[in-house]
Amino acid sequence: MCGIVGIVGTKPVAGRLVDALRRLEYRGYDSAGVATIHDGVLDRRRAEGKLFNLEKRLDAEPLAGVTGIAHTRWATHGVPNETNAHPHFVEGVAVVHNGIIENFSELREELKAEGREFSTQTDTEVVAHLLAKYVRQGLDPRAAMLKMLNRVSGAYALVVMFQNDPDRLMAARSGPPLAIGFGAGEMFLGSDAIALAPFTNEITYLVDGDCAIVTRDNATILDFQGREVSRPRQISQATAYVVDKGNHRHFMEKEIYEQPEVISHALSQYVDFVSQKVRPVASEIDFAKVSSLAISACGTAYLAGLIGKYWFERYARLPVEIDVASEFRYREMPLLPTQAALFISQSGETADTLASLRYCKENGLKIGAVVNVRESTIARESDAVFPIMAGPEIGVASTKAFTCQLAVLASLAIGAGKARGTVSPEDEQALVRHLVEMPRIMARVLNIIQPQMESLSRELSKFNDVLYLGRGTSFPLAMEGALKLKEISYIHAEGYAAGELKHGPIALIDENMPVIVIAPYDRFFDKTVSNMQEVAARGGRIIFITDEAGAAASTLPTMATITLPNVDEIIAPMIFSLPIQLLAYHTAVFMGTDVDQPRNLAKSVTVE
Ligand code: G6P
Repeated sequence: MCGIVGIVGTKPVAGRLVDALRRLEYRGYDSAGVATIHDGVLDRRRAEGKLFNLEKRLDAEPLAGVTGIAHTRWATHGVPNETNAHPHFVEGVAVVHNGIIENFSELREELKAEGREFSTQTDTEVVAHLLAKYVRQGLDPRAAMLKMLNRVSGAYALVVMFQNDPDRLMAARSGPPLAIGFGAGEMFLGSDAIALAPFTNEITYLVDGDCAIVTRDNATILDFQGREVSRPRQISQATAYVVDKGNHRHFMEKEIYEQPEVISHALSQYVDFVSQKVRPVASEIDFAKVSSLAISACGTAYLAGLIGKYWFERYARLPVEIDVASEFRYREMPLLPTQAALFISQSGETADTLASLRYCKENGLKIGAVVNVRESTIARESDAVFPIMAGPEIGVASTKAFTCQLAVLASLAIGAGKARGTVSPEDEQALVRHLVEMPRIMARVLNIIQPQMESLSRELSKFNDVLYLGRGTSFPLAMEGALKLKEISYIHAEGYAAGELKHGPIALIDENMPVIVIAPYDRFFDKTVSNMQEVAARGGRIIFITDEAGAAASTLPTMATITLPNVDEIIAPMIFSLPIQLLAYHTAVFMGTDVDQPRNLAKSVTVE
């Protein structure tokens, strides 16, 4: 995602702008650029690819100037080449932008009809043209900025530099974050506090609808009508990095996109990437000796456990008892000390899960905790802790914690299989190799499916009920898909085992209830397609989430087909999690719900 930096300084800024861009690299980007004003003239250097390329350009052709702006671009409109890289220049106006100008095509047509020529494929260029047009009409930069802000719509953070106004930067926010940093005789702008960290820790976050005029020693904040507003100045904490939404509109979106990175951290604890073997697991639980495994958890963590059950049983031939913790704790299930118990919890504080853990402990079972928060009560009371390393998860609807839980459970199941002699060294290597490839595949999938998920969500938001179907590990995933959708979009959704369709939910099928079928081309594919046929025969609309082989094998008409790469069965649940997360996310965004804090839900449920 794009990163923005600006400095109104007293000493040369180009090098410092690039340093600040480096701190924004974690967002991901595919080109970068920097622009300054020197001797009343705008100049810029831009480069495709990594910052290293931009630095080479700057070494060869340095940029002087004490006022400047810089940008890392994550391409949305237009390919990631140097022409489309920001800053964009039009007649003495320089613009960097993060977000999407939604009415750019009509503005572009209007400006073209007035004889303006566009040199990039970006949506951002219309902002520069509008500003240049207003300056040409005689407006000062402030008035031009306000007039432009009243013409564009969409999600944006903007920083603008005017050639004839070298001692000020203008900024605006409507969606993506933007912070003003207060220095000594210098002022800064940045996408987040971390970008500005070495310059200052005195920060003012703009809110949506703010326009800022930043000089060397002050910042004035206006609404888009030009009325002055006041925003608090705060001292940014060291923790700003971890609780910052970055350039995302919501924590949930940020957390979805963090998955490739956090999953590799998680995996690196459990598998050796070089030898392609699982690392030895905590010795407190001897998977070779346990007679069976009891798993318990709540919500999304429970559904991760349900997928884990398939893996422990298949790969380690280890029988698994699993139940939601609120039932488990009261079921008076007979337990044997030869069993081990696994509790899965992002927070490590969920009351029912903790109570189930204590019940097992009283019965003499060895306890393992798959947790995100290592200092949590559940972790403290367990014999073995299996951290999922997802980093803080802020969005109430769990995303990255879920896939990290899965990555850890898959690694543990392979390890258990190895210990029990049911996974051969060759199988171990093959399975681990698939796990190791997973982060790269996830990053690719996130990249390719995003536009389709967004447009499909608009369709989905028209319905009141949705049915999710899947078989094998895709069955718990179907339940997770339904859970995500209902949690944040408030659309009624159910997840069913595809084979159960004819035992009830088929009665509900008509054109008003889309059926989302999760079906990788696996051992169950043909059976799931038969269930799809039953849906199609009753006029049901199908959203088909499959892989390339599955898409090629099915000829059934669908409302949409989401085609993912072909992947091995062991990583399919993590890869197929991505479209269901994005579908829920974009549907909720489209419906305007409070995505990160959905009504009535809590992130950590510490009461029964
Ligand atoms: C709440 C959250 C869910 C979570 C569940 C279990 O319902 O909203 O996202 O899956 O609690 O929480 P835990 O922290 O134990 O994983």
